[in-house]
Amino acid sequence: MALVTMRQLLDEAAKAGYGVGAFNVNNLEQVQAIMEAARETQSPVIIQASRGARKYANDRFLYHLMEAATEVYPEISVALHQDHGNSPETCKSAIDIGFTSVMMDGSLMDDGKTPAGFEYNVRVTREVVEMAHEAGVTVEGELGTLGGIEDGVGSGEVNLTDPDQAVEFVNRTGVDALAVAIGTSHGAYKFTKEPDREVLAMHIIEEINERLPTTHLVMHGSSSVPKELVDIINRYGGEIRPTWGVPVHEIQEGIKHGVRKINVDTDLRLAATGAIRKAFAEDPGEFDPRYYLKPARAAMQQVVEARMEAFGQAGHATDYDPISLPDMAVRYKEQGHQLTVT
Ligand code: G3H
Ligand code: 13P
Ligand code: ZN
Repeated sequence: MALVTMRQLLDEAAKAGYGVGAFNVNNLEQVQAIMEAARETQSPVIIQASRGARKYANDRFLYHLMEAATEVYPEISVALHQDHGNSPETCKSAIDIGFTSVMMDGSLMDDGKTPAGFEYNVRVTREVVEMAHEAGVTVEGELGTLGGIEDGVGSGEVNLTDPDQAVEFVNRTGVDALAVAIGTSHGAYKFTKEPDREVLAMHIIEEINERLPTTHLVMHGSSSVPKELVDIINRYGGEIRPTWGVPVHEIQEGIKHGVRKINVDTDLRLAATGAIRKAFAEDPGEFDPRYYLKPARAAMQQVVEARMEAFGQAGHATDYDPISLPDMAVRYKEQGHQLTVT
């Protein structure tokens, strides 16, 4: 299957000054919604699977869904990424399946909950960099911890990224991309009011970007939790409490300062749930899953298209030819872990 490496996607995004959405998938409808949005907007895209997604869908199903995606959408540059790998073993299993990118989240211990120390993080991340780059696969690391706990993943403790440590971390590990903690969290309940610059520490991104201008920065927990999606859920019997996400204009500010990968999962979950609740309410006699999965898929596609336009990736799908994993491996071998972007 011809997937692009995330490194190449992000290098191209950096050259042209845009960001690339990384959308989580667990099933067929999510893969279809994202790929259709990519075709509609002519966008390169990152599709990512968490450990939970791999367990839910089964690795073989996920692999073949992605293979189908590259067959049906040959013109779209797509990277397949392991989201929040908890150990070198998880990252290795992703590489063995055919993922073109892995995240080693050494900010937490391998239980995915307990905050880890800096030296542990450096050690496991470096181990993954050595293994992944040998295969041409991209590596994302994380420094600092997000707030929030989703499905038992996350410590619930916020530790904003320290820019001095970020420089040391990147130099000692050789990661291609660095996830930074700036006050966001996973899930729908990020902020109790519209976040200002006190709550959402965008200055950390600016400072790290000044110190590490060639490192691709990653924003996790970047769903915007649009009120209109929450309202649809609540109108049809849902119970989502008042909440705020990360405003799209703040993400756009981040993109001006080195943010190249933007993780979005919750907004697709909200869109799908609202559409399904609406379909159930409008015709309680229907029981064909296609009756409610079709509007769910369309609602997810609409969110993804809007983000692709806002992040600036729209129109860039066919800017470049994919570099194969073996060719990428040669580049890392010749140029070292921190490749020179050409
Ligand atoms: O890391 C958070 C993503 O939203 C994935 O969530 O672990 O419930 O699949 P998950
Ligand atoms: P959201 O919960 O804000 O969509 O964040 C997703 C994420 O960061 C996946 O790694
Ligand atoms: Zn995340």
